[in-house]
Amino acid sequence: MIKVSKGCLGEEELAAVREAFEYGYFGLASKVIEFEEALKNYLGAKHVIATNTGTSALHLALDALGVGEGDEVIVPSLTFVASFQAIKATGATPVPCDVEYDTLLMDLKDMERRITPKTKVLMPVHYAGNPCNMEALLEIKEQYKLRVVEDAAHAFGSITSKGQKIGSFGDITCFSFDSIKNITCGEGGVVVCQEEALAELIRQKRLLGINRKSNSTAPWKERSWQFEVTIQGFRYHMSNINAAIGIEQLKKLDDFIARRREICQKYEEAFKNISGLQRLRINYHECAPHIYVIRVKDGRRNALMQFLKDRHIETGINYIPNHLHPYFRVDGLTLPETEKAYEEILTLPLHCGLSDAEVEEVIRCVKQFFEECQEV
Ligand SMILES: Cc1ncc(COP(=O)(O)O)c(C=O)c1O
Repeated sequence: MIKVSKGCLGEEELAAVREAFEYGYFGLASKVIEFEEALKNYLGAKHVIATNTGTSALHLALDALGVGEGDEVIVPSLTFVASFQAIKATGATPVPCDVEYDTLLMDLKDMERRITPKTKVLMPVHYAGNPCNMEALLEIKEQYKLRVVEDAAHAFGSITSKGQKIGSFGDITCFSFDSIKNITCGEGGVVVCQEEALAELIRQKRLLGINRKSNSTAPWKERSWQFEVTIQGFRYHMSNINAAIGIEQLKKLDDFIARRREICQKYEEAFKNISGLQRLRINYHECAPHIYVIRVKDGRRNALMQFLKDRHIETGINYIPNHLHPYFRVDGLTLPETEKAYEEILTLPLHCGLSDAEVEEVIRCVKQFFEECQEV
């Protein structure tokens, strides 16, 4: 089976895990701090706080901004359920909005229409790694005096059309380093922000609300039993073992991005003349692509999916729109572009473990499917 997505780990990560294992303390320790510093340098960000998952990074970010019951957070429905559950975990209401046809990114006009006095946060999702129009979004945020939490789970390494790295600006950016992301820690995530007071609050909340100033010793050096808890917190810190993997993965990021872009560009070239297939509008010089998604026209998506499966090629559907899940359903809400996209989208294999021969095989089978369609 040619896998649709997969992490790419080697001997370096294994050696790093061994070293962390031998160190003996697996919690929030020196590798976590080292990873945060490396990410700060890479992103050009002021503050990086490493967490155990991308979902907890989103929850922490919202919680630290004071989001809670009675508040609304606007988020595209076409995202992983994690974005919605992170909002729900605060007690706030996720307000699903529509996406644009050609990018599947949050439709900013639809988003703006959904702003109410209860809206506290706008949560864009950089779908497939493609940054949404942050310049326009930040203008809307200023106009309505809101906050922005970017769900950048897909977009580690991407830059905007203005040449800024995702994570180097804005209010709060959350990345995921789960096992299939552009880099992985096994499981992991980070909250990135530029404001010192906010970063300090997020750090405190990440570790059960323990006030670091009341606990001056780094926990892995000498565990202090004397500390003060002043606020609600969570046990969301990254472990030393996961950070050790992340440090090695970060060293390989440039190669990973180059290979991911190369595969996408092969797909783009091969598919450009297939009329039954629509490619997304993405600039691959800026995007560090996480998934490669096509739209299959004329109700043929499921047929193509099966055709590829029969030829040992795994595909995916990113995602079931969240407003269609019973838990997030909003009475009377329809999101036409999102619902149309859900019928048409198909994710093709994209990861650094794919050989050129496997990429060619995917292309050959997709082309064959559409050629056979034309014959009937
Ligand atoms: C868009 C999006 N948001 C959030 C997450 C959550 O990240 P994690 O799996 O690290 O909790 C993911 C992970 O798949 C994602 O794709």
